[in-house]
Amino acid sequence: MTSDELKALVGRAALAEIPELPGGAVIGIGTGSTVNCFIDALATVKHKVRAAVSSSEASSARLRAHGIAVVEASEVERLGVYIDGADEIDPRGFMIKGGGAALTREKIVADLADRFVCIADASKRVDMLGRFPLPVEVIGHAAAQISRRFDFLGGTATLRPGVMTDNGHPILDVRGLVITDPAALEAEINQWPGVVCVGIFARHRASVCLLGTPQGVETLR
Ligand code: 5RP
Repeated sequence: MTSDELKALVGRAALAEIPELPGGAVIGIGTGSTVNCFIDALATVKHKVRAAVSSSEASSARLRAHGIAVVEASEVERLGVYIDGADEIDPRGFMIKGGGAALTREKIVADLADRFVCIADASKRVDMLGRFPLPVEVIGHAAAQISRRFDFLGGTATLRPGVMTDNGHPILDVRGLVITDPAALEAEINQWPGVVCVGIFARHRASVCLLGTPQGVETLR
């Protein structure tokens, strides 16, 4: 199976994760090519959702194109579920995210949700995070000093060329980090002035991962 077929497989499988509620559920929806497959699958069972809180302009546009209502994060108090992809996921459900530059809003919407359902093709499963360059959204003014801090940790940070997030900030991609303790590194980087969001999702790790493999959907808990 191709990676697109695996993404479509988990996109469809994630429909079963939507809470059954009278009038439909309000759910959180992330960003990326795997989530696009989920949104397209969702369009076939629109009655299951009353509205979605989305993590990017791109996902919001796709949802609206399918006739699915989009509401702001500020309009909801809690979400039963948040469904999103990942760039890497380890056996504990810790993830690297932000390859699509939507990490800050992804973390905000994930924070509203009772459950984070990660959907990914099998290539995203790793034993230890860090092969994928770690995305960090930063205030541009602080990019150079934040890059120097990564030097001290053994990483090399480069500005992602031509990219500004939906929030109007640049992204640093950090290569070469050894991430043995994702929760500690996330907490450390969060302290640095000028960091908007780091793409380690340890505190907001996946509750469950639906992994697309050539043998079918594997559920990791
Ligand atoms: C966007 C993300 C995505 O979830 C991540 O990049 C995976 O994307 P894809 O499903 O296209 O592989 O974090 O910021």
